[in-house]
Amino acid sequence: MGPSGSGKSTLMHCLAGLDTVSAGRVWLGDTEITGLRERELTRLRRDRIGFMFQSFNLVPTLTAAENITLPMDIAGRRPDAAWLDRVIDTLGLRDRLGHRPAQLSGGQQQRV
Ligand SMILES: Nc1ncnc2c1ncn2[C@@H]1O[C@H](COP(=O)(O)OP(=O)(O)OP(=O)(O)O)[C@@H](O)[C@H]1O
Ligand SMILES: [Mg+2]
Repeated sequence: MGPSGSGKSTLMHCLAGLDTVSAGRVWLGDTEITGLRERELTRLRRDRIGFMFQSFNLVPTLTAAENITLPMDIAGRRPDAAWLDRVIDTLGLRDRLGHRPAQLSGGQQQRV
């Protein structure tokens, strides 16, 4: 928590390996992120950390369902069907899965 402009988003970007620090060191659990190669950062972002951006960053040409599974598709993995079902129902997205981001409300986009 902190006032607008105090560095919350910047901190998140550094913790997720999306941005690099000019001073200091960044640790995620037992892993020091500072100095990791781009390849290792990619794996870390894929497997260890995720967060919701202030802007949604959905892929406009993909459906809600495709946006949800995109990170796993890129990683070459298949989502667990039962888990995916549970997430979709918990977030009330069942009847919006075939819609593209522009056809979703702001809250629906954020939940996707
Ligand atoms: N790309 C950038 N180049 C230069 N300065 C930046 C850049 N991005 C952010 N800043 C500055 O860094 C500071 C921290 O920004 P940051 O986005 O981390 O704030 P925040 O705490 O997330 O704010 P908010 O609550 O408004 O989202 C701000 O003063 C901002 O102007
Ligand atoms: Mg912010």
